Amino acid sequence: MNLTIKNIHKSFGNLKVLDDFSLELDKSRIHCFFGPSGCGKTTLMHVIAGIMKPDSGDIIMPPDMRFSYIFQEERLLPWKTVKENVALVLLDQKDEAYVESQVKDSLSLVELNDFADYYPNELSGGMRQRVSIARAFAYEGDVLAMDEPFKGLHLKLKQSLMEAIYKYWMLHKPQTYFITHDIDDALYIADDIYIFEGPPMRIVDKIEVQVPHELRKTNPELLMAYKKKLSGVL
Ligand SMILES: Nc1ncnc2c1ncn2[C@@H]1O[C@H](COP(=O)(O)OP(=O)(O)O)[C@@H](O)[C@H]1O
Ligand SMILES: [Mg+2]
Repeated sequence: MNLTIKNIHKSFGNLKVLDDFSLELDKSRIHCFFGPSGCGKTTLMHVIAGIMKPDSGDIIMPPDMRFSYIFQEERLLPWKTVKENVALVLLDQKDEAYVESQVKDSLSLVELNDFADYYPNELSGGMRQRVSIARAFAYEGDVLAMDEPFKGLHLKLKQSLMEAIYKYWMLHKPQTYFITHDIDDALYIADDIYIFEGPPMRIVDKIEVQVPHELRKTNPELLMAYKKKLSGVL
């Protein structure tokens, strides 16, 4: 079932961020929400995930959808180790062996197995960001929602994380939404890029990236036309 955003209104005081906003998102594609800072992307993602209640309007999806959510901030507990922070999303799991293997598998996807017993303040910012990505993997939601998951990371690390996310997506096929204002990030894994402006948020354009994922890294020239289009936006 596709996710339908229907006639959503959300204001903060006098600021209308979502003003009768509607959009239907095909569940089998990777969606990127692209737009300048402050246009309302995080607000939209929060409303979709049920983290924030809209003033009015509906999000239509199956009632039991579970969200793996990567927040714009890391949101790690400083007094818990890396593996404990990841395991937090599995607190209602009774099967200890399952929890352990989920934590191990997701830490290995982000290449942090060697740091499982470290505390957040012993890690670099990029490593902490990877812990929050691992935590989302471990939960294995039906939806993977990521709010600027690659911000502040240097290119090489970003690429390996994007590979990890793509690998995870191929394995589990969650409905996937991610926010970025980085053109290269958008073109690395997205199938559909929604270009937003606002507030109030509106869709300026939708770009369907037709280049198969396997070719995006090896043949970057295939992405040039899309890149050009996106660089005219911000
Ligand atoms: N909790 C809040 N209280 C007041 N204003 C908010 C709140 N959250 C967001 N805003 C405002 O709403 C607008 C959109 O914010 P946000 O959705 O975070 O944008 P983006 O993620 O695209 O940068 C901004 O002007 C921001 O200041
Ligand atoms: Mg934001």
